[in-house]
Amino acid sequence: MNAARGAAAAAALALGLPLVAWPATFALATRLPEYVHLVKARPGAAAAAAAAAALPTAAAGLGLAHGYGCGLLSSSAAAAATFAAAWLYAATRLVDARPPVPPYTSMLPAQASPRLAVVTGATSGIGAASVNVLARAGLRVIFTTRSEERGARLAVPGSVTYCVVDPNELAQVAAFADAVVAASRGERAPLLSDEAASWLVDAGGVHILVNNAGFFPRPAPLTGDGLEPGFQVMHLSHHLLTKRLAPVLKACQGRVINVASEGHHFATPRTPGEPTSVFAPERIAAPTKSSLLSYGHNKLANILHTRYLRDDGIAAFALHPGAVVTSIWTFPYALGFLGAPVRAIQRVVFDATASLVMKTAEEGVSTVVYLALAPLDHLDSDLYWINLAGADATMASPLARSADLARHLAELSDILLAERGLE
Ligand SMILES: NC(=O)c1ccc[n+]([C@@H]2O[C@H](COP(=O)([O-])OP(=O)(O)OC[C@H]3O[C@@H](n4cnc5c(N)ncnc54)[C@H](OP(=O)(O)O)[C@@H]3O)[C@@H](O)[C@H]2O)c1
Repeated sequence: MNAARGAAAAAALALGLPLVAWPATFALATRLPEYVHLVKARPGAAAAAAAAAALPTAAAGLGLAHGYGCGLLSSSAAAAATFAAAWLYAATRLVDARPPVPPYTSMLPAQASPRLAVVTGATSGIGAASVNVLARAGLRVIFTTRSEERGARLAVPGSVTYCVVDPNELAQVAAFADAVVAASRGERAPLLSDEAASWLVDAGGVHILVNNAGFFPRPAPLTGDGLEPGFQVMHLSHHLLTKRLAPVLKACQGRVINVASEGHHFATPRTPGEPTSVFAPERIAAPTKSSLLSYGHNKLANILHTRYLRDDGIAAFALHPGAVVTSIWTFPYALGFLGAPVRAIQRVVFDATASLVMKTAEEGVSTVVYLALAPLDHLDSDLYWINLAGADATMASPLARSADLARHLAELSDILLAERGLE
């Protein structure tokens, strides 16, 4: 091998490794919770389960890296074959590990009148799949969306209707919440469709609230309410909605499901050793700078919100749905700073491999729907759930388990709302 070919191979490996590290890492991250679930059921199998989780991922990663190297050294056919074999192996190992889908409909207790669910941000991905499954299970569903057109497309007369609400404007969220409360009491609520209003009269309130709207923030200016967009959409709008709906949730012995994420582990205090600085003004009332940090502390907020709702006497759960193939995965990839060609290759690698190792939206909503429909006395007391199992001790970060931080966030959120005339 001459020096030029050696350098080319080294470059191919150097480029290939980070490229494959991305889907390979995700393969592991996606499936790990399922292995944790398995380990909880059979404690003696911990080492075997960890190895089983790591093996296909490592094989796939190495196979891909090898493939890139081979492609330069010999022929591109060798690279393609290695690529395909590695992923086929990973896929067959990983697909087996998918969690069972619960029998949603059999979880519904006998009921005199149809139950009612409200789901936020539901025209795609996990929100849309949740609406679909809840409606199939016999619930009436009112969802919120920013788009009249997308909302109308998903509405199903008799079981699914919508209201246009943009959580980037807190006043819209407050108006929607007030309309739901008014309709539940039989009062006029012009903001809602006639169908939604009549369902609320029948139900006398809300049985299930799924706080789902969320996105992977990119650098962006403040919202019109003067807040970091990720904080406002993913946390404060849900805090406001849930707070205003509390009386009608309590009237129905309702529950709140917060769609959080393992991404909450990215949250770190701004000042080391001071947990409350996770939500420092320089972060929550400043333009979005870091995508990962914003996503991390706002997903942490979803879990902390769950804790203080419980303290207020409302049944509440947070969950990580798994890594699910949805439109949230449109952010610039790791190494994107290396330029458009690298981003383009990563997009191709991701699109080609994501559906092999990630969950479909229907699989991703299994825990949402489980927590929404299972009788409360069937659910253990954990706040944070993954793959139909409580994961407080195994998967929640120390910050997510902090009662003090939850109290701080509740107080801070109320102050921010009061400053905007929305207490
Ligand atoms: N997919 C995953 O792997 C994954 C993993 C962990 C957690 N999650 C969480 O799951 C939830 C749903 O995400 P998804 O994966 O289903 O993503 P998605 O397909 O992009 O759906 C997100 C929904 O949130 C709303 N939304 C998106 N950007 C928004 C913005 N800038 N302002 C206001 N609303 C916005 C949209 O509602 P409208 O367009 O209808 O207004 C959209 O339907 C999020 O909270 C996310 O953090 C997802």
